[in-house]
This record gives sequence, C-alpha cells and structure tokens, in this order.
Amino acid sequence: MSAELRSVCDIRPLAIADLPAVLAIERAAYDFPWSEGIFRDCLRVGYRGFAAVGPDGALKGYAMLSVAVGDAHLLNLCVSPLCRRQGVATQLLEQLIGQARRQAADTLLLEVRPSNRGAVALYHANGFNEVGVRRRYYPASHGREDALILARAL
Ligand SMILES: CC(C)(COP(=O)(O)OP(=O)(O)OC[C@H]1O[C@@H](n2cnc3c(N)ncnc32)[C@H](O)[C@@H]1OP(=O)(O)O)[C@@H](O)C(=O)NCCC(=O)NCCS
Repeated sequence: MSAELRSVCDIRPLAIADLPAVLAIERAAYDFPWSEGIFRDCLRVGYRGFAAVGPDGALKGYAMLSVAVGDAHLLNLCVSPLCRRQGVATQLLEQLIGQARRQAADTLLLEVRPSNRGAVALYHANGFNEVGVRRRYYPASHGREDALILARAL
C-alpha cells in the first residue's frame, strides 16, 4: 500500500511541550536514548523538529533535521513501538526532505547502525545509498558499533 493511501498522521513542528511524549518514545525505542537536554539544545539552535500526530493529537513519532551549507543531516527519526509499519516514518521522511529542499540542501545524510535492519530497510526503500562508514561511532552493549553513512540526493 502506498504511504499516501495509508496516511495516518499529521506532521507539524516539534515543540518543547512535546518533550515528555518524545522522551517516553525515545526511551522505549533505543538502548542509548537521547536526553531531554539534547532535544532542547537541538530546538534552541534552530534545528527542525517534526512531530507526527494521530487524529487524537497523540504523538506517534518524531524527527530532527539540521541543514547547513548544502547538506542536510537527519539526526533522529523514531516512531512509537505501538505505531510502526503504518507509514509514519515514511511520512516524516517526506516532510523533512521537503524542508531540506526548501533550505537549498542538495544531499540528505544520516548515520544508522548496521544492526538496525528495519531502519536500513526503511532508508533503502526511500532512495538512500551507503556512502561510507564511521568506525566505532555508536555506544553498544559491548564496546562500540560502526555507523553506516547513508545519503540521498535531493
Ligand atoms: C525504523 C523506524 C523509524 C521505522 O518506522 P515505521 O513508521 O515503522 O516505518 P514505515 O512504516 O514508514 O516503513 C516503511 C518501509 O520501511 C521498511 N521497514 C520499516 N521497518 C521495518 C522493519 N522493522 N523491518 C523491515 N523493514 C522495515 C519496510 O519496507 C516498510 O514498508 P512496509 O511496511 O510496506 O513493508 C522504526 O522502526 C523506529 O522508530 N525504530 C526505532 C528507532 C530507530 O531505529 N530509528 C532510526 C535510527 S537511524
């Protein structure tokens, strides 16, 4: 089914008031979640936060994007475990790609753990290709894990 046909949420700017719901999802989703301070710092310096909300206003997912001199960087993309495989991440990606284009970026970059097979599949399904590896980039339960660097031309 196309993402358009199964559109299940509205996308709006992420606000400080969303942070309690964001942190609940973040902590459920990641072994090494971002802190509240990281989200606050991102919004304070002007990074673009996106909130995906259902018809009842409940937060289903969120994303954080930075754009600087031609390159956009997807810093976080996360969907509530209760709302996955409904196209929420795909809708968030469409919105942030539009934002990056409006800010004149010509490439969208991101890092992802190679072990995160669902996310890697999502990005490949949305036109991203592997362009490099950052060695020992992520904390892991035993030491560190590499990051794949993925890029999509805009
Ligand atoms: C990765 C994540 C963002 C995907 O969110 P989602 O809303 O479930 O993704 P979508 O429904 O838009 O998926 C679109 C397509 O991506 C692929 N995909 C998404 N999740 C997948 C999974 N777990 N396994 C395999 N393919 C997957 C599929 O091709 C899917 O299409 P389909 O459902 O028609 O098969 C979500 O699982 C998540 O928040 N994970 C924890 C946080 C995280 O890892 N974020 C990425 C950090 S780089």
